[in-house]
Amino acid sequence: MDAPLVRAATTADLPAVAAIYTHYVLRTTITFNTEVRTPRAWQDRFDEHVVGGRYHLLVAEVEGAVAGYVESQPFRPKPAYARSVELSVYVAPDGTGRGVGSALYTALLEHLAADASFHRAYAVVALPNDDSVAFHERHGFELCGTLTEVGYKFGRYLDVAYFERAL
Ligand SMILES: CC(C)(COP(=O)(O)OP(=O)(O)OC[C@H]1O[C@@H](n2cnc3c(N)ncnc32)[C@H](O)[C@@H]1OP(=O)(O)O)[C@@H](O)C(=O)NCCC(=O)NCCS
Repeated sequence: MDAPLVRAATTADLPAVAAIYTHYVLRTTITFNTEVRTPRAWQDRFDEHVVGGRYHLLVAEVEGAVAGYVESQPFRPKPAYARSVELSVYVAPDGTGRGVGSALYTALLEHLAADASFHRAYAVVALPNDDSVAFHERHGFELCGTLTEVGYKFGRYLDVAYFERAL
């Protein structure tokens, strides 16, 4: 496999990004969304966070196709949280374990490290997700707390682990 090419997403990438996310919405408890995010909602999110905001949406291309994406987004809406950022990373289900997620995180963390207006990065990991836990520890995140049975999807309660990294 060629090394992933990581670049800033454009509007033209949103359908490919949406297709990856939709898989995890419909088939897994990795995301707590239960309904597919519409093309309009993806566009609005992109316009608000990336075009008009301080956040990022990066895609990784492998052999000319989008193989994964990472986004930064506000951690919480209240103003005192503005120096904290939440990251979400999704690799196409047939392309995990090949360095795509790492290429995305490395690039995004470089952007964030260069931006003095951010102080902490968070990843919110629905459990169980051993791959994501190992991935975040590999990228310098530390577990800072777990909410028990805070989520409910597909007929069961789910824990959520908060991972933190200084920027
Ligand atoms: C979690 C995810 C983003 C990791 O991306 P990836 O491209 O699969 O991971 P990489 O190949 O870059 O691996 C990087 C590191 O993550 C860890 N890791 C990834 N997959 C792993 C697995 N199956 N078992 C153990 N460790 C794993 C390892 O530490 C690995 O480093 P190493 O190869 O040097 O040992 C990806 O698997 C994914 O999208 N999973 C489904 C969606 C998801 O869980 N997103 C995160 C939501 S919080």
